[in-house]
Amino acid sequence: MKPPKISIDNLYVTYPGRKRAEPVEALGGVTLTVTRGELVCIVGPSGCGKTTLLRVLAGLEQATGGSAHIQHDNSARPVKAMVFQGSGVFPWMTVAENVAYGLRLQGVSRQERAEMARHWIAEIGLERFAQSYPAQLSGGMQQRVGLARAFACDPEVLLMDEPFGALDAQTRLILQQVLLRQWERDAKTVVFVTHSIEEALTLGDRIYLMSARPGRLLHEVAVPFARPRDAIALRSDPRFSQLFAEIWELLRDEVERARLAEELTE
Ligand SMILES: Nc1ncnc2c1ncn2[C@@H]1O[C@H](COP(=O)(O)OP(=O)(O)OP(=O)(O)O)[C@@H](O)[C@H]1O
Ligand SMILES: [Mg+2]
Repeated sequence: MKPPKISIDNLYVTYPGRKRAEPVEALGGVTLTVTRGELVCIVGPSGCGKTTLLRVLAGLEQATGGSAHIQHDNSARPVKAMVFQGSGVFPWMTVAENVAYGLRLQGVSRQERAEMARHWIAEIGLERFAQSYPAQLSGGMQQRVGLARAFACDPEVLLMDEPFGALDAQTRLILQQVLLRQWERDAKTVVFVTHSIEEALTLGDRIYLMSARPGRLLHEVAVPFARPRDAIALRSDPRFSQLFAEIWELLRDEVERARLAEELTE
């Protein structure tokens, strides 16, 4: 049997305290696996270590204990790309340059880059803005650029950190649809962090719920909705509101604990 695409085993991350501050234990022993082609959502209260978990997977942060590993299947493709909290686009590059950025790092030729950028800009519906700069676009459009940039370099794994968190509800629904369609088409493995239970139910095959800091896994929820999914139609499915209520019940105490901890440190 093939090993899982992503395996995280008893992962601990502690940030050293700055000056005289105490060290911060961000993750307190997380174990999870993600299989190939799966879209897994991670939901948990603010500060529970969700970004830290993705950063370890992305190789941007070191584990203090345990391990996190992504299996690289095809050395011709990059193993992972991260979509950051906020769009993470470069303000000094045009939309086309932003979308082609990862390709340039991969050494793809100029002509091929231009073609792929054109394709992805069309996918996200921004043809008229290819030569615009991010400051000339709305937040939702910038977020689309961030998505297109990640998809364009065709990584095996997409690590997405609340990519739609800052958007209005309508734009968010539209981008959820864009992601669903794209993911259904190229079956990437996706780890998607969100605060929104609705978003997790809309997108995920499974949802991992995390405790307040230090983050641990509280629960794993299998999402029963068939694919392809429609982000809007799903909301009138009675199972949607029932699962929402169940997950909220599981998370409520954790959210309250996180809020109290924040108040104490203020
Ligand atoms: N570089 C760092 N140095 C010290 N502490 C850090 C650092 N990065 C994060 N932390 C702390 O580690 C904990 C987890 O942070 P992290 O950003 O992973 O949480 P999160 O779940 O992504 O939160 P949010 O939902 O608000 O984005 C927080 O208490 C945070 O203050
Ligand atoms: Mg975060």
